[in-house]
Amino acid sequence: MSIAPNKSEVHKFWNDASCGENLYLRGESLRDQFNEQRSQRYKLEPEILEFTRFENYKGKKVLEIGVGLGADHQMWAEQGCDLHGIDLTERAINWTKRRFETFGLTSNLQVGDAENLPFPDSEFDVVYSWGVLLYCPDMYRAISEVHRVLKPGGEAIVMLYHKWSFVGYMLWLRYALLRLRPWLSLKYIYSEYLESKGTQAFTVGEVRDFFKEFESVDIDINLTHGDLLTSQAGQRHEGGILSIARMILPRSIIKRFFKNHGLFMKIRAMKKG
Ligand SMILES: C[S@@+](CC[C@H](N)C(=O)[O-])C[C@H]1O[C@@H](n2cnc3c(N)ncnc32)[C@H](O)[C@@H]1O
Repeated sequence: MSIAPNKSEVHKFWNDASCGENLYLRGESLRDQFNEQRSQRYKLEPEILEFTRFENYKGKKVLEIGVGLGADHQMWAEQGCDLHGIDLTERAINWTKRRFETFGLTSNLQVGDAENLPFPDSEFDVVYSWGVLLYCPDMYRAISEVHRVLKPGGEAIVMLYHKWSFVGYMLWLRYALLRLRPWLSLKYIYSEYLESKGTQAFTVGEVRDFFKEFESVDIDINLTHGDLLTSQAGQRHEGGILSIARMILPRSIIKRFFKNHGLFMKIRAMKKG
């Protein structure tokens, strides 16, 4: 039973609909839709702004891996960054190009693969990637590519999924326990039921090992709207069991005693200067 990501399945999943496209890209003008998507994104995931602190990187040379609909890419552009962006899918690159045309912004956007970055060594001050590298079959290779293209003293800002999260526990209850298959591992559950097939979630120890080439690595975990069921869940989930879970989830207990059991593992890593 392989749980490794398969890149053509990952490509198909995200090329059918970019991340959040079905939820937020509705409405009249493209400008309004992009504005609405961006404002909903940061309302739902305020940790993106709090953790990344885009405003601290004005004018830097930045690569974003996995631009999706391009909201964070727009944040980088608005800081006057010398900006490059890649995504595995044509769809995400097209959305981000349309966003940038709509707002009169500039970036060098191209289809590309995190495991084979189409850039020379020591090129960027910052490599940013939010919820993307976890779809790579070879995580060591993906992180080593991030390290390679960073300048000495450059910074990686990355979000990966955390294995010990309420999102994982709830998916396990639903798809392992309630289906009388309690032997299924959390890793298997993430890979089958979270997003695209092969989605991976990691322990802190695993992530420290992926980033071992870096001089310093800071990791922070937080409970997300998915862990607390305070939003519509991701592209794949809906139905009666989820509605019941929304009603009975003991949010205040989780926030008080289990705040390290969130899905988002945010990583800041510095390359040796
Ligand atoms: C969950 S979405 C996140 C998009 C965006 N960063 C965001 O936070 O909305 C994952 C994105 O990663 C892209 N992706 C997956 N594997 C990739 C790879 N090997 N290289 C580059 N992009 C990849 C997908 O095409 C998709 O657009």
